[in-house]
Amino acid sequence: MKRLAILTSGGDCSGMNATIRAAARTAIANDVEMIGYRKGYAGLLKNEFIVLDSLAVSGTLQRGGTFLQSARSAEFRTEEGRKKALDNLMKERVEGLIVVGGDGSLSGALALDKMGFPVIGIPASIDNDIAYTDMALGVDTALNNIIYAVDCIKDTASSHDRAFIVEVMGRNSGYLASTAAIATGAEFAIVPEVELDLTEMCHQLRRRYEEGRTNALIIMAEGAGHAQSIADGIKDAVGFETRVTVLGHYQRGGAPSVFDRLLGSRFGRKSVELLLSGTKGVMVGLSANSLTTTLLEMVVKGGQKKLNEDLLRMADILGI
Ligand code: F6P
Repeated sequence: MKRLAILTSGGDCSGMNATIRAAARTAIANDVEMIGYRKGYAGLLKNEFIVLDSLAVSGTLQRGGTFLQSARSAEFRTEEGRKKALDNLMKERVEGLIVVGGDGSLSGALALDKMGFPVIGIPASIDNDIAYTDMALGVDTALNNIIYAVDCIKDTASSHDRAFIVEVMGRNSGYLASTAAIATGAEFAIVPEVELDLTEMCHQLRRRYEEGRTNALIIMAEGAGHAQSIADGIKDAVGFETRVTVLGHYQRGGAPSVFDRLLGSRFGRKSVELLLSGTKGVMVGLSANSLTTTLLEMVVKGGQKKLNEDLLRMADILGI
């Protein structure tokens, strides 16, 4: 192989730059040129790319987001769009493509694989809902961002006898909410996968209040309901002044953690080595701290990774 390409697609996350850099430098070490498409599949369709020589990726490892930029492309979801993408790859003599992104981006990678083009997928989504990998890129940094914010909120909550609902990302996934609840010592995690029993939660909060505790923290995934209505419910039932903080896109940015720098570097290197050895149509994942490969077909068919409900039980036990 003489020329490979990489793109970052869907929601950005920290660690994407580490992946691009590692992929580019592994390619260079093997006398292969790496190009980077701008703005995900949208850039591939417009044939907008830059050559990723060693200097082009210098100084990117420690930066959040993706310097190639990312986008969600409606055109690429059409058959015509995919044909155009394939034409562009051929025209530029690209022999293999690395796609870094979440479930939608990996479905796109599978479509190209089915058209006979060599593709490797890398899981990247702070939701950590991609099957066949213990961790996706960006999850660890997002969790570090969350615990920093929640620790700050806890200080002010305890100074005022208040309860706080902190809304974290996760439209369909409660991974961030449940792990953040454990890591911040929050009283409750509310997740989309499990229906909330508001009466029971208020009962527990009242008991804690009567025991003399000064505050309560609830971490809620954005897809689990309406935070302000739950806050109003708590105020009515328990009497605690309850405030809502929505962390939003703050969670997705910032310098990647050590874990995400290492994971991105490992994923990036591996993806190039796989293409050079003739492997295609797989996603690189992490299992028990070793890198794995799973057919993209299985990843996409498997759908969203299920929440390990033991995390929730643990959050409950430790939050008593
Ligand atoms: O899938 C990652 C994610 O950050 C979700 O947690 C969140 O719901 C969504 O992306 C937000 O998407 P956007 O940045 O397009 O608003």
